[in-house]
Amino acid sequence: MTSPTNQELIARWRHEPAPLLPLLHAFHDRDGYLSDGVLRDVADGLRISLAELFGDVTFYHHFNREPDRWNAPRVCTGPVCRRKGGLEILAALERNRATSMPCAGRCDDPVPVLQNGHVLAGTSVPALKAHLSPLPPLNPWKHEECVFSAIREPGRAKLDGYRRTGGYEALAQAVTEMQPADLIHLVAENGLAGRGGAGFPTGLKWKAVAEAAAHPKTVVCNADEGEPGCFKDRAILDHDPHAVIEGMALAAYATGATRGFIYLRYEYPETFRVLEHALHEAERAGFLGGSIVGTDFAFHIHLRRGAGAYICGEETSLLNSLEGKHPFPRNRPPFPVTHGYENLPTVVNNVETLAAAAHIIRRGGKWYRNLGLNGHAGTKVISLSGDIQRPGNYEVPLGLPLNTLLYEWAGGPPEGREIQAATMAGLSGGFLAGDDLDVTLDEPSIRERGSFLGAGGTIVFDDSRDMIEVAREAMSFFAQESCGKCFPCRIGTQRLTERLAGEAGPSDLSAWIDEVTDLGETMKAVSACGLGLAAPLITESLLKYFPERVAQHVQA
Ligand SMILES: Cc1cc2nc3c(=O)[nH]c(=O)nc-3n(C[C@H](O)[C@H](O)[C@H](O)COP(=O)(O)O)c2cc1C
Ligand code: SF4
Repeated sequence: MTSPTNQELIARWRHEPAPLLPLLHAFHDRDGYLSDGVLRDVADGLRISLAELFGDVTFYHHFNREPDRWNAPRVCTGPVCRRKGGLEILAALERNRATSMPCAGRCDDPVPVLQNGHVLAGTSVPALKAHLSPLPPLNPWKHEECVFSAIREPGRAKLDGYRRTGGYEALAQAVTEMQPADLIHLVAENGLAGRGGAGFPTGLKWKAVAEAAAHPKTVVCNADEGEPGCFKDRAILDHDPHAVIEGMALAAYATGATRGFIYLRYEYPETFRVLEHALHEAERAGFLGGSIVGTDFAFHIHLRRGAGAYICGEETSLLNSLEGKHPFPRNRPPFPVTHGYENLPTVVNNVETLAAAAHIIRRGGKWYRNLGLNGHAGTKVISLSGDIQRPGNYEVPLGLPLNTLLYEWAGGPPEGREIQAATMAGLSGGFLAGDDLDVTLDEPSIRERGSFLGAGGTIVFDDSRDMIEVAREAMSFFAQESCGKCFPCRIGTQRLTERLAGEAGPSDLSAWIDEVTDLGETMKAVSACGLGLAAPLITESLLKYFPERVAQHVQA
């Protein structure tokens, strides 16, 4: 079969919604890189400036600009994988011109190696093999779950299995018997808050979009999951994709949206195929498309792949990326609920939020709220990894003690070791350590300790780990992923990385602390998005819990 020409590929995509990323991926899949000629044709075909396109393409890690790098493997060297064999695999694959990639969302099953659109995983080169992400472990308390309540049912990822276990009942009932306002009320009264990091109440978000006057409206599922230590969205999408599709359709019905996008990180190629199949099944069965469940409700979902940029998980950066613009976060207000995709009202929700909404609407009433402990509403999936005996995705009742999760559910640290620190919100919440590990898993309790739960990634470091090194790697990740739009974040993350690496900064301890604190305070005061606001939590928590190690480092 002959490959499609440039003009054929452009004709295939130019009239589709959000065409730039799929078009660039199509060329990249065809040629293994993006040549100057291709960029010129894409710029002409989509009527965008060549200079702007060049800036966009080089912003993403994934797109090669050299002709001979397509087969080069990419090895995860994120904070967990580098301690589970990632660096050794990278060295062993050096002759294949392997390059490293930041956390690729498989911390419970290390080490992922991405090559030719497939992911292999294993802790050494001979052990590398392809397999779907692991199912979430059963929680030993048998505490009732929401998002994972049916995920382990055989066949759940396919339409038949999904429907056998109650799938699409909520959607069918909603569009035939309920008013959109009833749905919004149901989601709001259950206390569901966004599970992507910011924790904004989902019912309020849907209400704001429903009340916005402009059309067409859009629902975006944020499946970018780039936060190191977070791998829950991948498990949900691999094993329960229809729950997310149903959640999106319910959000669309509630808000009056007619078009939807799933923005999936490119490091999840198998998940992409699972989703393609599930979307096709849902359309054929009438749960998506022009006449959903035989009614006049119409909603179409388009699947789009990111291209490797952590900042694209930030919702306004994601919207710019979808629109084919440079993926800088936008200044807010206005917010996406009124000025989102193409400046029109848009719901952006995380994968877990949408899957939870589908369950909540089916189970109704007070059920979800009552799943939490001590007055906290509902559940949260925690991706647990690092120095812990049973890593995995655990759906915990909000209000569960962190130590119960670490020791009773996940088996504690490796034999003979003690837990030294655990991160919150992936890396974005910094560390908790010492007495502060005695905290319950809910936003208010964790915020009282100066951190936040966020997307629920927790990486455990035992007492054999050097926390300065851990902090330096974390800050260097933020420095590499800072989009560079605002000066304090772009420069601040670099300066903090240098100080943690011992490459710059005062040798006097109190001057060093003042400088690092001042850099962090400035970043928190003036950064335009959550990356620049969160990165200083790494150094703040390091200074709070490990002052002696900091002193040793500065005075060495
Ligand atoms: C740097 C950065 C990265 C983010 N990455 C993600 C992500 O990968 N997935 C996600 O759902 N939200 C991410 N968020 C949060 C989103 O901006 C947004 O709050 C979320 O998608 C809204 O969905 P929710 O209300 O269901 O949580 C990120 C935020 C920031 C600042
Ligand atoms: S805070 Fe950092 S990542 Fe966010 S917009 Fe500013 S430079 Fe970009």
